[in-house]
Amino acid sequence: MVTFKSLNLEFPQLETERLLLRELKSTDAEAMYRYLSDPEVTRYLATPAHRSLKQTQDLLNFLVSLFEKGEGFRWGITLKSGNAAGVIIGTCGYHAWAKDHFRAEIGYELARAYWGQGIMAEAIKTLLAFGFEHMALHRVEAMVLVGNTASARFLEKLGFQQEAVLRDYEFVQGRFRDVLLFSLLSKNYASHLTS
Ligand SMILES: CC(C)(COP(=O)(O)OP(=O)(O)OC[C@H]1O[C@@H](n2cnc3c(N)ncnc32)[C@H](O)[C@@H]1OP(=O)(O)O)[C@@H](O)C(=O)NCCC(=O)NCCS
Repeated sequence: MVTFKSLNLEFPQLETERLLLRELKSTDAEAMYRYLSDPEVTRYLATPAHRSLKQTQDLLNFLVSLFEKGEGFRWGITLKSGNAAGVIIGTCGYHAWAKDHFRAEIGYELARAYWGQGIMAEAIKTLLAFGFEHMALHRVEAMVLVGNTASARFLEKLGFQQEAVLRDYEFVQGRFRDVLLFSLLSKNYASHLTS
């Protein structure tokens, strides 16, 4: 099987005004555990607050493997300056990359101390530019558990449209959950940027 690893491709580092989005390393597990053990952060994620570093390490290995297998990208979000410079404060990226259909899904989470400062918007804007310009994406999707108002508003602000409510779509944290399907098409992304 041809993978990005076997092709010796370099992981694409992305930079914004305040942020450096870089490849995750196994030494990032402790920084990720600090926010993934916060129930407020994981409330609407697939797994509840992490209880052990091993759990975070397993997730980290999976996120790193997305690129190695050519199935997607997960960037570690770091600040370029300040006390926490270089430390992972969240992650974001693409998975469920259906190359034949020119579409992929995004996922993202940020440590609570950094919410409400426009950090994830800054990260996702550059990630969308990468997806439309370098992954040849035509459509980007996002799945949000019903109740996660912050994430739904966040996507709308970036120009995503809600398309559907998928009933009992995911079995998350012990129960079936309705999921909102959002999408952004490349043509709408372009017009959103210029409007
Ligand atoms: C969703 C999340 C990533 C937002 O990150 P953030 O850096 O705080 O978001 P930003 O500051 O870039 O916000 C951009 C816009 O999103 C919307 N938004 C963000 N947080 C919001 C909230 N709590 N309530 C309502 N709208 C919100 C606003 O429109 C905001 O623009 P404004 O500040 O001009 O009003 C963050 O809350 C998070 O990590 N949540 C936990 C993990 C999670 O649920 N991930 C998504 C799974 S689908």
